[in-house]
Amino acid sequence: MRKIGILTGGGDCPGLNAVIRGVVEKCAVAGIEVFGFNDGWRGALNAKGRWLNLSDVEGIQTLGGTIIGSSRTNVLADPNGPSTVRDVLDALDLEGLVAIGGDDTLGVANELRKMGINVIGVPKTIDNDLSCTDYTFGFETAANIAMEAIDRLQTTAKAHSRCIVVECMGRHTGWIALQAGLAANAHLVLIPEFPKSYDEIISLVRRRYLRGDRHTIIVVAEGFELLGADEIDIGTDAFGNKLLLHKNLAKNLSDMIENSMKSDPLLGNDAQYFECRPVVLGHVQRGGAPCAFDRVLGTRLGIKAGELVVQGDYGKMVAQVGTKIVAADMDTAVTVRKVVDKEFYDAAALYFK
Ligand code: F6P
Repeated sequence: MRKIGILTGGGDCPGLNAVIRGVVEKCAVAGIEVFGFNDGWRGALNAKGRWLNLSDVEGIQTLGGTIIGSSRTNVLADPNGPSTVRDVLDALDLEGLVAIGGDDTLGVANELRKMGINVIGVPKTIDNDLSCTDYTFGFETAANIAMEAIDRLQTTAKAHSRCIVVECMGRHTGWIALQAGLAANAHLVLIPEFPKSYDEIISLVRRRYLRGDRHTIIVVAEGFELLGADEIDIGTDAFGNKLLLHKNLAKNLSDMIENSMKSDPLLGNDAQYFECRPVVLGHVQRGGAPCAFDRVLGTRLGIKAGELVVQGDYGKMVAQVGTKIVAADMDTAVTVRKVVDKEFYDAAALYFK
């Protein structure tokens, strides 16, 4: 009997369960058993998990989160980590492992691949920043959640003639902020790929105010850094990623804008009433049921990963290219980041006014 393992690592993401279902269903057809490790690489290090059967995965593509749990445990943090994973796979008689994750999780999978362990990667992140795939599942759901939130913030900002600074997830890239901001008519979108100075930001708010547009929506990706501002050191997670959500980016920007507007003598007496509010969308963007696109993309990626297992074709990452699901190069996927290109940002910038 052939057997494989599966795990979901890193921040959870709508569509993970669809992938698990696709892998289990496809493997079941070929009589391959699937062991689901608990909580990402943590389960693969301590041999915790359970065998997944068809009834475990029936209809789960509708559910958010992951039925096998996730964590940010980093196998590479311990020099013995990779060999421990190999021993666990051997002890459970697993011929390989399907790792569903973002750059951190797949970075570990890639190192295990180099050691000769059979791995297949499935790209996952709401941030959409993995290369070799046009989309990562979870992004579409997250962008829609952010868009709906910004739609709502538009009306309350307008009612109070306020500026609202909305912070979206996006540690290294601004895919969610730009997609949601453009869709929801943001007046400015700030993303890591295209840094801006504070002067550029405040001059837009000022310009709008002076021409009678008294509300402004600024969408900012959490990884954005002000040109010329000092970096704020707030620590890192197990993979060395900065803990951005604790940086108070939206609050800091909001306070700076309100203070500048209130103290600007050229704006007239009413400017003393100008208010700005920060809104951090945070983990709401990752929670809840996946949208149709992510349910289907996750399912197709899972089925493709299962197909590679059946064929014994390890060492690849499954990906969406155009409308097709393909097997891509894992090494490139984890070493090259997919960033927002200038053409897309410029299209959105047409509406920054
Ligand atoms: O990796 C995806 C992501 O959602 C990032 O956008 C965000 O910075 C991070 O996860 C948050 O991680 P955690 O859930 O560990 O706070």
